[in-house]
Amino acid sequence: PVMDPADVVVFGGTGDLAMRKLLPALYLRDRDGQLADDTRIVAVSRSGLDDPGYRDKVDSELRRTAPRWAGPDACADDAQHHRFLDRLHHVTLDVADDDWSLLSELIGAPSPGRTRVLYLASAPQLFGRICVGSAAAGIVDDRTRVVLEKPLGTDLASAQAINDEVGSVFAEEQIYRIDHYLGKETVQNLLVLRFGNSLFEPLWNASQIDHVQITVAESIGVGNRADYYDGSGALRDMVQNHLLQLLCLVAMEPPAKIDGEGVRDEKLKVLQSLRPLDGPDVVRDTVRGQYAEGLVDGTAVPGYATELAESRAGTPRERERSSTETFVALRAEVANWRWAGVPFYLRTGKRLATHASEIVVQFKPVPHSIFPAFGEEIPANRLVLRLQPDEGVRLHMTAKQPGPGGIRPIPAPLDLSFARTFGDRLPDAYERLLMDVLRGNPTLFMRRDEIEAAWRWAEPILRTWEATDQRPRPYTAGSHGPASATALIERDGRAWHEDY
Ligand code: BG6
Repeated sequence: PVMDPADVVVFGGTGDLAMRKLLPALYLRDRDGQLADDTRIVAVSRSGLDDPGYRDKVDSELRRTAPRWAGPDACADDAQHHRFLDRLHHVTLDVADDDWSLLSELIGAPSPGRTRVLYLASAPQLFGRICVGSAAAGIVDDRTRVVLEKPLGTDLASAQAINDEVGSVFAEEQIYRIDHYLGKETVQNLLVLRFGNSLFEPLWNASQIDHVQITVAESIGVGNRADYYDGSGALRDMVQNHLLQLLCLVAMEPPAKIDGEGVRDEKLKVLQSLRPLDGPDVVRDTVRGQYAEGLVDGTAVPGYATELAESRAGTPRERERSSTETFVALRAEVANWRWAGVPFYLRTGKRLATHASEIVVQFKPVPHSIFPAFGEEIPANRLVLRLQPDEGVRLHMTAKQPGPGGIRPIPAPLDLSFARTFGDRLPDAYERLLMDVLRGNPTLFMRRDEIEAAWRWAEPILRTWEATDQRPRPYTAGSHGPASATALIERDGRAWHEDY
């Protein structure tokens, strides 16, 4: 369906996120006819570009990158392509300045019948300033929607400060906090798999499930984001948001309806049920790692410290000593009736052997084997939700090995590949999320209380690492992470699922 006409104002409009994600997503939705004819996209930055200059910049960027995100002929030089470029405007503005007149002259006051969205793809330190400035410039009202990108704070207090500042201008219903993992097809599919089938839910609890693993492995390094990354690290960058959101979707109770409050209320309860990791528990149940040089896909890559030294961040001495983690493994528990005693092992890192994300639900083994010769070997059922790449669902079953030689149970998968089954290109997370903002559907965005509950859990881990000087263990780029991450799970008599 075509959305209502809109003004989408992107602060940070020449930045990496706008160029790499937001504009391609809007471009693709426009090609599918979802943007109304008079929808405008207004980029705000300090760059000094005018409209034609910005359109040229976006044009060449789209042409350069489109084959990667949308196939070889996604960026045809046709009427649709030019219609998209014509939607673009650029306003040069330093948001710290008081003079917002160029922007307010261009877009004016909000008007009924036009959706107004402010997309804050800029540094979070500017979020408050942008909201206050927009209100002072008269370009927002109580129907305006504001989209906030991560990182929302570096701890609970800074997250609360950002939420307070934004909240001084906008009501909670107007605020859309992005976690792009919630826009991924396979992540949403988790909701449908759990609550659209009667098969799984009766088994989805501590009496049938042995443990859960959530892995988000990346083969890329920090590259040119070292400046940001060194002040953040994997726990803040990935675990506090993306991995905890995945955990919530696995662990939450069925909401009565799939709507904004229903889903978010249930996720919040999971976050509030997480057993706090503090003090000695942190030392026992978390592992930090930092990549050293190694081979990824047969190519030699430098270690984190070298990448950092090549960036602009910090003094040479600080860089050398950087104790930022690029890998985290931890053992979490959801302390409630459904999940008591079921460990959730979480793991994420950069420069790992491969780029793959998955959720593994490991069921308990059969209570008694009737195949005495193979009794000890019957593998337990395991449900693997593959988030990327090769999205799909695989249920590891046990079957009889074909042949006349007696009954021999062997592992056999039931496999659902989304690409093979549904064929179509899966839309990027930002396509889905941006359309949800235009539609006014907040279900896949994070509420203030969720973000703060996630920080409340993550912060003691960060604090303990610092207080006990728990420095990251080096791991070779291209490996599966530090040996202590393997030890973390093997200590419980279990193993990471590595056959991706
Ligand atoms: C971002 C992190 O939020 O997610 C990055 O800041 C990370 O460090 C990225 O690379 C991973 O997203 P995806 O969609 O590529 O799995």
